[in-house]
Order: sequence, then structure tokens, then C-alpha cells
Amino acid sequence: METNKKTMLSGIQPSGDLHLGNYLGAIKNWGGRSEDYDCFYFMADLHAITVRQNPADLRRRTLTQLATYIACGLDPEKNTLFIQSHVRQHAELGWVLNCYTMFGELSRMTQFKDKSKKNADNINGGLFTYPSLMAADILLYQPDFVPVGADQKQHVELCRNIVQRFNGVYGDVFKMPEFYSTKEGARVMCLTEPANKMSKSAPEGCVFLLEKPEDIARKFKRAVTDSDTEHCVRYAPEEKPGVSNLMNIYAAVTGKTMDEIEREFDGQGYGAFKPAVGEAVIELLRPIREETERILADKAYLESVYKNGAERASYVAEKTLRKVYKKVGFIPR
Ligand code: TYM
Repeated sequence: METNKKTMLSGIQPSGDLHLGNYLGAIKNWGGRSEDYDCFYFMADLHAITVRQNPADLRRRTLTQLATYIACGLDPEKNTLFIQSHVRQHAELGWVLNCYTMFGELSRMTQFKDKSKKNADNINGGLFTYPSLMAADILLYQPDFVPVGADQKQHVELCRNIVQRFNGVYGDVFKMPEFYSTKEGARVMCLTEPANKMSKSAPEGCVFLLEKPEDIARKFKRAVTDSDTEHCVRYAPEEKPGVSNLMNIYAAVTGKTMDEIEREFDGQGYGAFKPAVGEAVIELLRPIREETERILADKAYLESVYKNGAERASYVAEKTLRKVYKKVGFIPR
């Protein structure tokens, strides 16, 4: 179990169906790393209930998310895949870290402010202290890197502040984690309102990973381009946010550079470009959808994956939790 490899960790809330932003911002950067890293990836169900969930939907999405992780190439033999609520150390360390996170810090979190606006009738304590639980998720595994999209950078920064504060009092308990992201995928924007990030709350501007090809094609055809007069495919995020977002997506999916994309569509306008991006995304997602459906049908296999994952994760998490409990002065049982 113990290796000298570096460690990576990340998670996604099963509060909605996975979308292209989750894939390009996070999951894509998780795969293919198990030779060099010990990798921990989880379904953040404890986080999901900070917003009211339908229990049956939450269960369905948690399992679908696990199947999709595997379909995206995360081999459960080489990556520890688990459900957050199965590893009780998350909630326990989350409590401890609440006591090392300042009210002012939590009040400044953009996600808290956004979600409070969207859920004005349910601004609960969990929504507020969410970042301390996220810090616990991270620090239990002492990771070197946390691969997430740009919208989570503020939370990783807060986690780093907690490390500094805690280690400042008790010595080197936690390793300082680094935020990790790629340029093209870090911020995938909404197809219909490119000023906003792609999110499940605007479904027509959001491409879901398991969506039918014809729906994906439609969404890209209707994607908002810009109201400039030149109508050419040129990367200019400030001036042309819609086209630049589509270029980012195309670059992230095909591996092409912005120069190559500009040359490919030189003189062709948006009419050729938008369906081409749609096609590239459809081809990327086709095997992921088919494989997810196949894996989802095998409930016994999925159960064995999450049980094994929870066991492996708990082993590592418990070591960190014990150290923390000892440092803060709790009597061992
Ligand atoms: P969540 O569930 O909102 O999103 C999961 C991952 O997807 C990324 N993402 C995006 N990336 C690019 N463009 C977008 N439009 C886009 N939308 C979402 C997010 O940045 C994230 O990487 N708090 C986390 C979940 C979490 C976690 C953790 C992550 C809980 N504990 C510990 C890392 C480590 C969240 O709400 O992500």
C-alpha cells in the first residue's frame, strides 16, 4: 500500500449529471496518472446535501458518476475510487478543521455567495462551512496536487491557509497541496451565455456527458457566437467570448493549438466551425456514454469497486485523523 509516489486527489458532487465542464476541468486531468501518482477520486455526496437533494436521485447519480469515472479511463485497480460518506474520517476531520477556519474566510467564498443567492430559502450551516469539509477531503490523503477547474481554486487556497495555520501551531502535520489545472479546460463557459461558466443550472448551454449525440449537435449549432462583423474564428476571449469558448473546447478535445484551429477554419466563418466542435465533442463522449451504460448494468461490480475503494481510502484517512486527534489533545480510545 505505501509507495514513494506522489498523491493526487479530487472529487465531484453528485448533485447533477456530469457535464463537459466537469470533464475538461477535472476528470480529463485525472486519468493516465496512476503510474506516477497514488490517485484518490470520490463522489462528494456529503457536499451535495448542502443543497436539498431528492434521495433517489442522489443515489442514482452517485452510482452513475462512479460508472462514468471508470468509463473515462480511471481503472479501479489503479485508482482509489470511493463514495465520500463511506469514509467517516471526512466528517470527523471536517469538524476539527471548522475550528481552524475563520468566519471571515468562509464569508468571502464566491461559491457560498453564489449558492446563497440561488438557494435563498436554505442558506444552511453546511453551505457556509463547506470549504472546511473540502479541506478535510484533501488533507486526509496528504496529496501533492488537487486537479480541479478554476472555480475551485479559491477553496484550494483556503485549504492552504488552513494548512499553514494548523501546521503553525502543531508542526508538520499536513502536506501543502497544490492547485492543478490546464489552460483550455480550467473554465468551460455556458454555450448560450458565455459570460457564465457551464453549469447544470442552464441546461441548454450545458453539454452533459451522457447526452444523446443529436442533442449535443443541437446545442453546439445554437451556441452563441459573437455579434462582431468579422465572423472569423479567432481567439480573443475579451472581444469574442463565445467563439473563444468554443475554441477552448475544441482545443481541449482535439489537442490542437489556437493557431492550428484558426488556420483550419480560415475563411469558413462560424457556420462550419460550430458543427465541427459539436462533432468532436460527440466523438469524445460516445465511448464514455456507451461504457458508462455497460458498467452501470453491473451493480455487483460497482458495489465491489466502491467497497474496495472505501476500505483503501479509510486506511489512509485514518492515519492522518489519528495524528490530528493526538496533536489537538484528544485521548486515544
Ligand atoms: P463541483 O462538483 O462543482 O465540480 C466538479 C469539478 O468540475 C469542475 N468544473 C468545471 N471546470 C471547468 N469549467 C466548468 N464550467 C466547470 N464546472 C465545474 C470543478 O472545478 C471541479 O473540479 N467542491 C468541489 C467538489 C469537492 C472537491 C473536494 C474537489 C469536494 N471536495 C476535494 C477537490 C478536492 C465542487 O463543488 O466541485
